[in-house]
Order: sequence, then structure tokens, then C-alpha cells
Amino acid sequence: MGRAVAAHQVEGGWKEGGKGPNVSDIMTVGSHASPRKITPVIDENEYYPNHEAIDFYHRYKEDIALFKEMGFKCFRTSISWARIFPQGDEEQPNIEGLKFYDDLFNELLKNDIQPVITLSHFEMPYGLVEKYGGWRNRKLITFFERFARVCFERYHHQVKYWMTFNEINNQANYQSEVSVLTNSGILFKEDEDKEEVVYQASLYELIASAKAVKIAHEIDPSLQVGCMMAMTPIYPYSCNPEDMLKAVGANHKRFWYVDVHVRGKIPGYMQTFFKRKGYAMDITQEDLEALKQGCVDYIGLSYYMSFATKGDGNENLDYNEATDLCDNPYIPKTKWGWPIDAKGLRYTLNWLYDRYQIPLFIVENGFGAIDVLEENHQVHDQYRINYLKEHIIEMKKAIDVDGVEVLGYTVWGCIDCVSFSTGEMKKRYGFIYVDKNNDGSGTLTRYKKDSFEWYKQVIASNGEKL
Ligand code: BG6
Repeated sequence: MGRAVAAHQVEGGWKEGGKGPNVSDIMTVGSHASPRKITPVIDENEYYPNHEAIDFYHRYKEDIALFKEMGFKCFRTSISWARIFPQGDEEQPNIEGLKFYDDLFNELLKNDIQPVITLSHFEMPYGLVEKYGGWRNRKLITFFERFARVCFERYHHQVKYWMTFNEINNQANYQSEVSVLTNSGILFKEDEDKEEVVYQASLYELIASAKAVKIAHEIDPSLQVGCMMAMTPIYPYSCNPEDMLKAVGANHKRFWYVDVHVRGKIPGYMQTFFKRKGYAMDITQEDLEALKQGCVDYIGLSYYMSFATKGDGNENLDYNEATDLCDNPYIPKTKWGWPIDAKGLRYTLNWLYDRYQIPLFIVENGFGAIDVLEENHQVHDQYRINYLKEHIIEMKKAIDVDGVEVLGYTVWGCIDCVSFSTGEMKKRYGFIYVDKNNDGSGTLTRYKKDSFEWYKQVIASNGEKL
């Protein structure tokens, strides 16, 4: 048991140690009501929360001491690709960037905390977007392979559990500019078929991921490399067969990525979809072979919520995430409109394990809320404890009753960090409060929340004392 963050949401130091800008560095702060803006040129009048984030880059030792106090067994973070290859297409890595992660991983291990690492968590060097158009370009496969090889060679003694692309399937919602930029480094051109562009980019990423898995196993057969999916199951709104079928189609679009990662081939329903749409995907015989040879060892997943959908008579079961979801009357929502469905975690674990029969690793689950720092520097976040408790209970049922193989559970945001979707600080997930506000003001001082002591006992009792 442990916790998870991502480099761009905590590190800051956006221009330090030779790092180049990455895609999250060009996103402004937003809110639930107003989306983050993407500004290819930095605008002096805007605030970019990832530039400093919570300054983990300079404060990680202090933070790891707190993680140790909580008893973390593992800590998930990512490697900032732009620290290692500042523009993305260099032949040689940036040694200062490599050194930063040497030190970070050593500090974790010194404190008996296993690093669990994602290679690309919503960031890639912005140079690759400017020069190559992001993952719309096949050349990215080679750049990613190079990045992956450098990381596996350098860190394989320190890191055993890896993941390739964080929540690669968010881009199934191709209407979301932020999802498409952070998954694939794509800025759309006018009048292009967004869906086609995103599917091609996704295929290149899946090929790159498979190649990375193979490289890792060649370098060190003991490495475990997983994919990472945003597991948001889509329920049929009712048992009306129309709703049931619509949910099948919707789940296909969100989860075909897992099929490819785990089974090493493009599922039939996607092949017929590409054909029907007239999408001439660039995928060679060699790519298909690479997919087969790079099947993942486990499925990493985030679970926050479930969705629901209603049938609409579309015989092709087409699904558009921006328009085809509906409210589920049985479950409440957070202030940011995220449905809260603890039983959905048990459902998800069963759904995945029934389908793939390989180990699952819950690498994100958590509750984003507005926390109040009281005058005595306490934060009473019972709502977060309740949320996590309910989810851990359901996870245990999946393991003990349903026999699902779960490798681990890392809650999202051990320490408050920049929200990915809105760029806010006030959407907090941590057990450790960071004194920083949406506009960038604050001292960055860390304070323990009530959930800090609670999670400490949860870890110490291996989930028995909730
Ligand atoms: C997941 C991401 O989507 O959810 C994290 O992998 C993200 O990067 C987390 O922070 C919570 O989302 P948000 O938008 O509330 O920060």
C-alpha cells in the first residue's frame, strides 16, 4: 500500500537541471467551470500552476520523510520525459535529469519505499509537439523507445514495477483538448477528423508501449511492466437491451486499449470500426508483430468513478463521450461532478480480471475536495477517510470473495498537488496539506491532515483497521 503522484503535478523546477518545457507547462490554471487554456507561447498575464507545482523538486527529502512516517511500502510517480530528453529528439540524455531520479529513487529506497514508475504521465517534451505534431507522427515511436531504454537501463536495479502511458484511454474523449494534448501531444488543425487523428496517435502509442515492454524484459527479465487505464466502467442505464448494447459499444471505445496491451492484437470490433469509417490506419506487419511481442505483465488502473449510458437506436453502437453519458440516479457526485461509487471498484476489478486473468494494480483512487486549514493547522477531512474506507472495503471483497489478484493499491495524491484536469490547488487529494492556493500564493509549508494518522494505521494493519 502506498500513494501516487505524477512528476508534472508535484515537481515544479520546470526550467531547472536542463529540463525542457513539456505539454503541461503550457496549460494555465482553470476551474470546474472554465477549462484550462492551452497557450503554445507562455503568456505573462496567465498563471501556469505546473511551473512550480508544490516544489517537490527541491523538497522531496522532507516529503519522503513524511511518507516514511505514514509507513508507505511503495510510492508511484513518473519520470518527466523532458528532464531526460529536453526537446525529445536528442540522441543523448540529459545527465542532470537522470541524476535527479537517481537521487529520488535512492532516497525512497533508503526509507524502505519501493518506487513504482510511469514513463509518461500526461507529459512529453513540448519540442515533440512543435516539431513533429506529437503522436500523430510515427517518429515518436523511436523517441519513446530511446527514452524507455535509457530509463530501464539506468534504473532497473532500483525500480521493478513500471507503466508505459498513464490513462492512455482518456483520449477516447477526443473532444477534450486537454486530454488529447496530455495523452498524445496533439493540437488539432481546423477541419480535420479528430477521431481519426486520435486513433492513429493511439495506435502509435500502443506500438511504442509494446516495444518498451520488450526492451524492459530484454534488459532485466525481472521487470514488471504494465499498462495504465482510466477504469471508468460505463453501466447500462437500465436492463433495456438497447441500454445494454449501448454500454457494450461505449466500453469498447474506452477499453480497446487494454485489449491491445494485454492480448497483443487489435480487437475485431475496432478493425471493423476503422473499416466502416474509412480510416486508413498506418500500421505495418512489423507493428503487428511488435504488439504481439510486447504484452504487458499486469494492468495498472485508476478508479475514481463510474459512468452510465442510454441506448439511442444507433445500430453501430457508436459512442461519443461528450454527449452519450447520463446521470446515474443511484450515486452521488463530488463538487467537481465526479460520481462516487465504491461498489463500482469491485465491479471494475471483477470485469477486468474475468476478461484478462492477469494481475491488477490499483495505482490511483482518491477523493478531490476543498479542505479547510484551521487556525491550529489541522485539517478535518473525514469525508476523504469515508471515501477511501468504502473503496478499500470493496477492494477487499474483490480479493477475498471474488478471488481477484490485486498487486497493490496506491491512493492518488499522498500530498496535495496540482489538479490535472483543472490545474487548481484547491481540488485536494492529499493526506498532507500544502499551503498553496489556486493563484500560486502560499508558503508551501506541509501540514498533516486527519487522514494522515488514519492511513498510517491502515497501512500498518495491511487494510485490516479501517
Ligand atoms: C487521474 C490522473 O486522471 O486522475 C491524475 O492520472 C489526476 O494525474 C487524477 O490528477 C485526479 O484528477 P484531477 O483532475 O482531479 O487532478
